[in-house]
Amino acid sequence: MAGSNNPNITPPRWLLAELSYKCPLQCPYCSNPLDYAKYPDELGTEDWKRVLSQARQMGAVQLGFSGGEPLTRRDLPELVRHARDLGYYSNLITSGYGLTEAKIVELKQAGLDHIQVSIQASTQELNDHIAGTESYQHKQEVAKLVKKHGYPMVLCVVIHRENIHQMPEILAMAEALGADYLELANTQYYGWAHANRDLLLPTQEQFEEAEKIAQAYKEKVAGKMKIYYVIPDYYEDRPKACMNGWGTTFLTIAPDGVALPCHSARELPGLDCPNVKDYSIAEIWNESKAFNFFRGYDWMKEPCRSCDEKEKDFGGCRCQAYLMTGDMYNADPVCSKSPHHHVIQEAIDSAKETALAAEEKPLIFRNSKNSKRF
Ligand code: FES
Repeated sequence: MAGSNNPNITPPRWLLAELSYKCPLQCPYCSNPLDYAKYPDELGTEDWKRVLSQARQMGAVQLGFSGGEPLTRRDLPELVRHARDLGYYSNLITSGYGLTEAKIVELKQAGLDHIQVSIQASTQELNDHIAGTESYQHKQEVAKLVKKHGYPMVLCVVIHRENIHQMPEILAMAEALGADYLELANTQYYGWAHANRDLLLPTQEQFEEAEKIAQAYKEKVAGKMKIYYVIPDYYEDRPKACMNGWGTTFLTIAPDGVALPCHSARELPGLDCPNVKDYSIAEIWNESKAFNFFRGYDWMKEPCRSCDEKEKDFGGCRCQAYLMTGDMYNADPVCSKSPHHHVIQEAIDSAKETALAAEEKPLIFRNSKNSKRF
């Protein structure tokens, strides 16, 4: 691949470094690929440093360390230090499991800017059930330690049918923990969440009720705690501008070095995603087939092609179009203008039927034994 002088290609701004697919938790809504066990290789420290340097050189400013669980990497402080030297704003996206006070101090000294801790529910029983691992008490302690060491306390709770009834308690828990930011992220149905959708998707009534409670709380704690309620797109009639447009802003590097235009792109057929071991970030971003696949508007079919909203939503999410219609060129079926919009209602109906069924279906937890089935 040669370098590019295409003026229409803007540089990446956000780099998501998925350091490892290893994770001590087993959340059934994880967005990692179902078959992640097929990719056990991980980039070495020097490879990651080169990736960070090259992306920064192109203009990336925000860096997320995620996974799996990024804390499983022993070289995390070294990578954080490198990111600080390069001038990134760095964010650790963690389950908190395995984080200790000594590690927080070490990461702070290395220059980490931000820590986001996830909690699965407001009670130990449900948290530990969803996480598939006993972790509630430790997460509570970690949240307090993050605050103690001068970080803004950013709590993330993924919302789904198993915990949506706890909305009032989740809000109270976040306030009691002194959270500065609470992200209530309605599950996005990719990866493991898609496989478990019938068991995780709440009803519209549940969504509306939960949103009402969250909005009221937002007013109550205004100035003290910021609440972000991430709207579930199955109950919208226009799609999200996924990734802010393909190949415009976001660059994800998977643990084995595969560069992805979005975190789920590994599931799309025929993209030939390049590996950072073979190409520079500039070559990948500017020239690779994968990053140019859905850039701009030429790839669009109707109704997106002639739609007057295409510059706002870019046809929605390519992965959602593929997962739900079998064709990644289709309009995101969330859009009411899509001829496939009915598949959204079918998914909602199927989830409702599962919820009402007498026989309980088990969740598929995200672990390597289950991953080998895919
Ligand atoms: Fe892949 Fe939306 S998650 S394009």
